[in-house]
Amino acid sequence: MYVGGVGVLPKFRKQGIASQLMGAVLAQYPALWLHVRANNVAATELYLKLGLHVNERLARFYSNNEDALVMETPEAV
Ligand SMILES: CC(C)(COP(=O)(O)OP(=O)(O)OC[C@H]1O[C@@H](n2cnc3c(N)ncnc32)[C@H](O)[C@@H]1OP(=O)(O)O)[C@@H](O)C(=O)NCCC(=O)NCCS
Repeated sequence: MYVGGVGVLPKFRKQGIASQLMGAVLAQYPALWLHVRANNVAATELYLKLGLHVNERLARFYSNNEDALVMETPEAV
């Protein structure tokens, strides 16, 4: 399963909403991967906490030349 994006409105952040949302997705789709902007600390920390790891760094992946991290669960092949 590929996750194209997850977002929480600013006023609701840091209350565990994304953790719950992604936890529900992971329960149903344990083999999961995604791209995240390399400088997105909040999202990267969220995914690490959920058990994903960085598999690859893609240089200048985004249109503004920012790098992407490919993150995945251990179940992803
Ligand atoms: C990333 C995002 C979805 C997190 O949503 P959230 O509901 O605030 O996340 P949670 O409250 O479930 O946080 C879970 C963990 O993520 C990490 N985290 C969340 N916000 C963080 C921040 N600002 N800085 C560092 N770590 C952060 C922490 O490890 C946190 O655990 P903790 O609360 O025990 O410290 C939210 O910040 C967001 O919508 N950002 C903009 C959109 C975006 O970047 N989406 C990801 C694109 S791939």
